[in-house]
Amino acid sequence: MAASGDEPRIVRHDVVDSTSERAFAEIAAARARNMDVHVARGQTIGRGRLGRAWDSPPGAGLYASFVLMPPGPWNPAALTIALGLSVLDVVHDLGATHAALKWPNDVVVDRAKLAGVLAETRDLDPRRPCYVAGIGVNVARRDFPAALVAERPVTSLAASGVSCSVDDVLRRLVRAVPERCAQIEFAVERLESDFVRAAGLRECRVRAEVASGPLLGELVRLSIAEGLVIRPDFGAEMRFALEHVRALAPI
Ligand code: BTN
Repeated sequence: MAASGDEPRIVRHDVVDSTSERAFAEIAAARARNMDVHVARGQTIGRGRLGRAWDSPPGAGLYASFVLMPPGPWNPAALTIALGLSVLDVVHDLGATHAALKWPNDVVVDRAKLAGVLAETRDLDPRRPCYVAGIGVNVARRDFPAALVAERPVTSLAASGVSCSVDDVLRRLVRAVPERCAQIEFAVERLESDFVRAAGLRECRVRAEVASGPLLGELVRLSIAEGLVIRPDFGAEMRFALEHVRALAPI
């Protein structure tokens, strides 16, 4: 991002509806700056991907939303991958060395979800693009509501053996997010190769969930510009735009 030199401005909230809502409210009021970071102790209506809720009890996790204002629009898949990698960099650095990425940008430990990212835009103006990157990391919690666990396995840094504070995570994230976002413009091939490695997809058979249904085959290439290229077990190579890939995992 050309504006990557902008100093982060941390905006602290107590318990709010959603840090991403607070970020959008500042954008609407023309008070937002690149690298504003809205952080809350808790959220009452934390949002997750695909219309899900993000359970956000006070003090138990990092709930942060970054305002990102690059000079020109970003490829949405590139942003998604950059943000997932930035969270992964942070949790690796803190000692969760087994953490991995799950398509498109869930951070998991032994398949249990540790962190999630929700990148949003509203009324995107290509001349003055603005994104809100909402990041939730389970830090201290060891108990999760039964309804959440019934949906999928979940974990936290504490439950994965990493003892740190919410602020430790935040401090690292304010460095990692602009570093990874700069790669969208200057080192996109690095994002592609780091993602493939972080998701355990290198040189292996994969299962992809695309518009026509599930597809099994060999991953030939994952390219932000060209999309996902798979050689199916039966038939010729196929290519899919990344935004049409619903799931992608090694088998
Ligand atoms: C996911 O479903 O994996 C994405 C979860 C994103 C949660 C974060 S917490 C901070 C920010 N505010 C929200 O309301 N959601 C995001």
